[in-house]
Amino acid sequence: MTAELPTFTLTFEGRPLTARPGQSVAAALTDAGIRAWRATRGEGAPRGLFCGIGVCYDCLITVDGRPAQRACLVPAAEGMALTGAPPPLPRPSGADEGNAS
Ligand code: FES
Repeated sequence: MTAELPTFTLTFEGRPLTARPGQSVAAALTDAGIRAWRATRGEGAPRGLFCGIGVCYDCLITVDGRPAQRACLVPAAEGMALTGAPPPLPRPSGADEGNAS
């Protein structure tokens, strides 16, 4: 017989997730089947866990209202409220054409 590990609850976009002590936010999201929680500004490509060691910044997420937290480094905690980045804004026309004047 194995002992059950204690769990706690946090939310992502209002959806309850279960996590275990010692898990990072990224691990809790991945365990819940959530692989992407933000999109790139330019193309809107989905982003989530990539390096898993705090180097690439792909996993940025808002934690309890604090934006740009690395999900792979932040320990999951009871009652934590996670939100992904908002959808990217459309680029103004000519934004990539440089300054021609
Ligand atoms: S996954 Fe690379 S910094 Fe978090």
